[in-house]
Amino acid sequence: MVGKVRTCVFVSGKGSNLKALIQKSNLYTFPIKIELVISNNLNSGGLKIAKKYGINTKFIEFKSKNEFESKALSELKKKQIKLVCLAGFMKVLSTNFIKNFSYKIINIHPSLLPKFRGLDTHRRVLKSKEKYSGCTIHFVSPRLDSGKIILQKKILIKDNETVKSLKKKILILEHKAYAEAIISLF
Ligand code: GRF
Repeated sequence: MVGKVRTCVFVSGKGSNLKALIQKSNLYTFPIKIELVISNNLNSGGLKIAKKYGINTKFIEFKSKNEFESKALSELKKKQIKLVCLAGFMKVLSTNFIKNFSYKIINIHPSLLPKFRGLDTHRRVLKSKEKYSGCTIHFVSPRLDSGKIILQKKILIKDNETVKSLKKKILILEHKAYAEAIISLF
């Protein structure tokens, strides 16, 4: 596909969503190309995965939000990035960053937003005896996990569900949903 959208993925952790996106983006018809992976965590699995696939990586130490964001913005400009995908990125981006980037920033969250924003999602979902859970891809806004929803996928929670089993099931769902959300945007 000519004219793929130049994309940067922000990761802090394991990077299974990143890996799924890289594999999809290697398909000719998938609308984005991952040009850069940025992490605030030098030891993140995400950085290792990106290197394995030959993608440019940048570790930016999170000394302060301001410093991290201005370094990240300059990398995004340098690489002419037109889409940022957050994939397990554990920092909240400021209004300033969102305004200054001026292209799309999207995030994936492992719940059916607006329910269960924030961390420790699966435990809270189980504790409140929800019948369903799932994942949400949404635009990033200055309020945590609150931007406009692009796509959601849901699953039924079984009686014997544990945090571990729910996390595993929802991650599989996330890998499909993130790709579908991106296709729906471009
Ligand atoms: C995913 O559950 C994602 O929804 C959340 O953080 C987790 C990241 O997992 N924001 P991975 O690093 O992509 O495996």
